Amino acid sequence: MSQNTVATDCLNVREYEARAKTNLAEMAYDYYAGGSWDEITLRENCTAFERLAIMPHMLVDLTEFDMSTEILGEKISMPIIIAPTAFHGLATPEGEKATARAAYRAQTIMTLSTLANFSIEEVQAAAPGPKWFQLYVYKDREVTKDLVQRAEAEGYKALVLTVDSPLLGRREKDVRNRFRLPDNCQLGHFVGGKLANLPKDVEDSGLAHYIASLYDVSLSWKHVEWLSEITKLPILLKGILRADDAALGVKNGAAGIIVSNHGGRQLDSAPSTISVLSEIVEAVDDRVPVLIDSGIRRGTDVFKAIALGAKAVLTGRPVLWGLASDGENGAVEVLELLRSELKLTMQLSGCPKLKSITPDMVRQKKPFWALAKD
Ligand code: GLV
Repeated sequence: MSQNTVATDCLNVREYEARAKTNLAEMAYDYYAGGSWDEITLRENCTAFERLAIMPHMLVDLTEFDMSTEILGEKISMPIIIAPTAFHGLATPEGEKATARAAYRAQTIMTLSTLANFSIEEVQAAAPGPKWFQLYVYKDREVTKDLVQRAEAEGYKALVLTVDSPLLGRREKDVRNRFRLPDNCQLGHFVGGKLANLPKDVEDSGLAHYIASLYDVSLSWKHVEWLSEITKLPILLKGILRADDAALGVKNGAAGIIVSNHGGRQLDSAPSTISVLSEIVEAVDDRVPVLIDSGIRRGTDVFKAIALGAKAVLTGRPVLWGLASDGENGAVEVLELLRSELKLTMQLSGCPKLKSITPDMVRQKKPFWALAKD
């Protein structure tokens, strides 16, 4: 559990992470920070952003500045949305309730995880403001249906169906730590029922075990169809990495595509998300919004994603680092930090509006051996 030291001296997301690390139990930090197997994708998510250069315009009047946007009819103050991440109770006692308040203060959307420590109802009661619900599909369709109906009844605005996790990627740190939840943390949506706890007595990650025994490994396009029959909420597909899957998603009624590799936590060696964004945007061809997560740590990264066609980004770990640094206030600080970095990036690049950020403003840096030939 976090000791919640004050985080005001952190200047960037990396420093929030360092602060969070000193506050968090090792098992919790490893769970949040870790990736699967060799963590190739985890690292690549960030380095792929570094390989892109921004080609700025000069002498553009920036007096009228605006970075607000609208996604699925929801007006938000910036193109940065809170990604679904699990177990915020490991970072701060108020868990996802603190995150909901932070999202409201930053005027953006919060995506609540199926693996939350507070329930759909508790999180909605914690703060107004638009929320999406991230869904994992349980083998027991009644369990899944119940989650969907509760989210709908509480006024959540969309379902984010995670499609990359019929099983959990093997996160070796969690295996070594025998990852489990402390006694004061349960799966909030299921308190009082038999799905509320991760197993404690397994020689493995308790979460991997929970998912292997309860999630539906038959997850397929049929489930997308089934979901759209049982809900009126728009369904975004999270975890798409290929243009053909994105096109199939649109054909199957998806209201949005989230390009994601689950923060490098599922298939190791999957591509970085920013490297596949353009081809997915092209395949989707403006029919639905395309969003992206995984590896975004700076406002410059948000800018690059927007330039390559994302309508908005989702941020996961940075919010966790804020929460673990200083609860709700820490999460607000991180969101405001990303906002101010994006604003300065736009201003220094001659972009007073999101629409001014065009694909030609991002260029793949050439490796030094290619430069030598020029
Ligand atoms: C859950 O979604 C996780 O990545 O651990």
